[in-house]
This record gives sequence, structure tokens and C-alpha cells, in this order.
Amino acid sequence: MQRIAMLGSGFIGRFYADSLHGQRSRDRVVAIYARREESARKFADDYGCSFFSTDMEEVIAHADVDMVCIALPNNLHEAAVMLCAKHKKAVVCTKPLGRNADEALRMMQAVEEAGIFAGYLEDLCYTPKFLKAMETVKSGGLGRILWAKSRETHPGPHSEWFWDKEQAGGGCILDLGCHCIEIARNYIGKEVRPVEVMCWAATQVKPIDAEDHAIALVKYENGAIGQFEVSWTFRGGMDLRDEVMGTEGTIWINSFLRTGFEMFTTGKGTAYVAEKAESATGWLFPVGDEVNELGYNHMFTDMFTAAEAGREPAETFYDGYVVNAVIDAAYRSAQTKQWEPVRLPVWRGREGLTQESTLVDYDENHYLIKEEITHDGRHKLILKDKATGRILERDLI
Ligand SMILES: NC(=O)c1ccc[n+]([C@@H]2O[C@H](COP(=O)([O-])OP(=O)(O)OC[C@H]3O[C@@H](n4cnc5c(N)ncnc54)[C@H](O)[C@@H]3O)[C@@H](O)[C@H]2O)c1
Repeated sequence: MQRIAMLGSGFIGRFYADSLHGQRSRDRVVAIYARREESARKFADDYGCSFFSTDMEEVIAHADVDMVCIALPNNLHEAAVMLCAKHKKAVVCTKPLGRNADEALRMMQAVEEAGIFAGYLEDLCYTPKFLKAMETVKSGGLGRILWAKSRETHPGPHSEWFWDKEQAGGGCILDLGCHCIEIARNYIGKEVRPVEVMCWAATQVKPIDAEDHAIALVKYENGAIGQFEVSWTFRGGMDLRDEVMGTEGTIWINSFLRTGFEMFTTGKGTAYVAEKAESATGWLFPVGDEVNELGYNHMFTDMFTAAEAGREPAETFYDGYVVNAVIDAAYRSAQTKQWEPVRLPVWRGREGLTQESTLVDYDENHYLIKEEITHDGRHKLILKDKATGRILERDLI
């Protein structure tokens, strides 16, 4: 059992608490910190917390607290992590870990020096669909991963601080790209170094300083390519989709807008449909169990099981720091319009990888390029002569 202090009583704090108290869970949120006393009191009433305060340090240091869960605006993550390190409290922190890689690196170093458990709450790397897809990828079912694309777009966040570049640290690249980058990184292989980024970003619609739409390519050392598409201007709900392409297979995942649940209503008696849904009438695409579909349940299970077993969770502060470093490069690239290197002063993965050869021998003298049965009944082979390099076509009888 974990006795949790929640820092932040807002949108994600409540989603986390719903997941933590879900089903027959024994884990309890025992303490809550919020900026305003009435919010802290309301959260404490709703979730049965025995302690609430508007003093963050008091909540972290409380004797009943084993695990601190950071659900605060991005500019407060670092200060909260430093207090956890000071009071030697295990900590899990929402995404993005930092507003930039410097902040994230300081957080990672602080928890490592303090010797405390730390986990990065990247929920979209724990959705049931993602976990199943990763099993296939890890077993080699897709062969060598060549391209992993992840898209998260919606009509924009729900609180004012997200839209303020100083507090949030950026726009949709930081807010949504962090999920997409880590999804692609998992598929390509976390041990493979992201080397450079090419990014387009623009403020197309909203009257803000940060970007509200961006697309980027992330090049990995082994030749694989990651891609993210993020937007705060997309209309029609929350679009969470991944595509993975390997030498032996393909995965397409739609995590939210099309989960296989379709519903029509004229609008009578309808209420909440799903996160960021823009309509509650007509044909709707609800999500059966949001905390599960979004990965929160599997995420906290891994986090707390890891903490109790003395091992690292699947998503660590180190992962959060690598993601921040990729985002920093994306912001630089959007400015310079060039490929920008990913700066990783600490790198714990593999070094010097090159693209694997996938030449397939057809016979002693030829490589196989392609085999296909065409509509006229031919069984065709396209081959390359090993000695001359000539490409030739042959029919199998
Ligand atoms: N899928 C996800 O993992 C996911 C989804 C949404 C948000 N988040 C992250 O969670 C964090 C919080 O986001 P949110 O959506 O819950 O925000 P929110 O505005 O709904 O809630 C933030 C809470 O922080 C507290 N707070 C303390 N000081 C504050 C201050 N100076 N300004 C504003 N709030 C203050 C308040 O209790 C407030 O309710 C962010 O880092 C965000 O990126 C993660």
C-alpha cells in the first residue's frame, strides 16, 4: 500500500486520484496540496484525505506520506522535486518532467543524489494498446523499426497557465510532443540515441506567444525516424494515434477518438463524453474507462510495484530528461529551420550504432528485392545481381 500526497488539485490531480482509488485499490491519497485553501479542502473531502494544506513543504514532509505525486503546472515541478529530495520522499512526476532539459537534468540528479525512488508519469506509454503493441515489437514481430509516428492533437488545454509561455515553458510541442516523443522512442528502442531534430512550428490560430501547431522528425542513430504531430488548434476532440512501421510489420493504434464505442444522442440528459470532446449531441465517440484507456492504472501499478521492489519503473526521470532534450532541439530547429542536434550531456544508452543491413539472399548470385503475385496470376521476383548491381525481374513458374 502507498500513502500518497497529491500536489495539485486540478485536472490531472483528479484523474490520478480517480485511478489511484479505482476498483479495489489499497493505495490512498492521504494528503493534498493546492494553491487555494478551498480547492485543497474540496479535494480532501472528495477523496477522503486526512490532511490538506496550501503549504507544499508541509504536505511533502507529513509523516503519513510515503509517495509524492506531482500534478502541478510545469514551472513548479522542479521546486517540488527538490523538496522531495530534501525530505527523502519517493516521488512520481507528471509530464513534461521539466520545461527544458536543464531543469529535467537537475531533477534527475537531485533524486539520484538523494537516493529516492522517482518515476516519470508518462501515461501514454502504459495504455493497454501500447503495452500490447510493445510486446509484439519486443518479440521482433515488426522486425527492425524504421519509423514511429505519434500524433496528439486537441482544441487546446483547460487552464490559463498552459497558455502562458513562461509558466508552461512552451506550447503544444512541450505539452503534447512529450508524449509523442516518448512513444516513438519506446518503439524505436530507448537504448538508441536520438541524434537530431527537424521541426516546423507555428502559431496559426491562438493569440499566444507559444506555438499552437507543430510537426517534427526525430532522427535516431540507427537510422530509424520518429515523427510527431501536435496541435492545440485541432477540432473534433482529442486525437491520439500512433503508427509504427518495421521491416516485418505495421501497427496502427487509435487510442481515443475511435475506440470501437459509437453513440448517437439528441442531447437530452447527456453530460461528460470524454476528455476534450467538443460536443455532447449527435454521433459521439465516448471512451469506456478513461483512466484505464489513458494508461493511468497500468502506470501507477508499475510505479508502485517498482518502488516496493526496489527497481526502476518503465518510465524514469532519465526518460523525462531525454524527452526534454529532444524538445529543446525541436524548438531550436523551428527557429533555425535546420536539423538541430539533440544535446544529451548524460547519455546512458548505446553508442556508435549504424543502420543494420537487411539484404536478403535469394541465391548465391542475387539479393531478393521483392516478391509479388499480380492480378494476372504471375508470381514475380525482383532481384539484384550481387556482382553487377543490375536489377532484374523473374517469373516463378
Ligand atoms: N496526460 C497527462 O499526463 C496529463 C494531462 C493533463 C495535465 N498533465 C500535467 O499535469 C500538470 C498539471 O496540469 P493540470 O491539467 O492538472 O492543471 P490544472 O490547472 O488543472 O491544475 C493545476 C493545479 O496545481 C495547483 N497549483 C499550485 N500552484 C499553482 C499555480 N501557481 N498556478 C496554477 N495552479 C497551481 C492547483 O491546485 C491547481 O488546481 C502539468 O504539468 C500538465 O502538463 C498531464
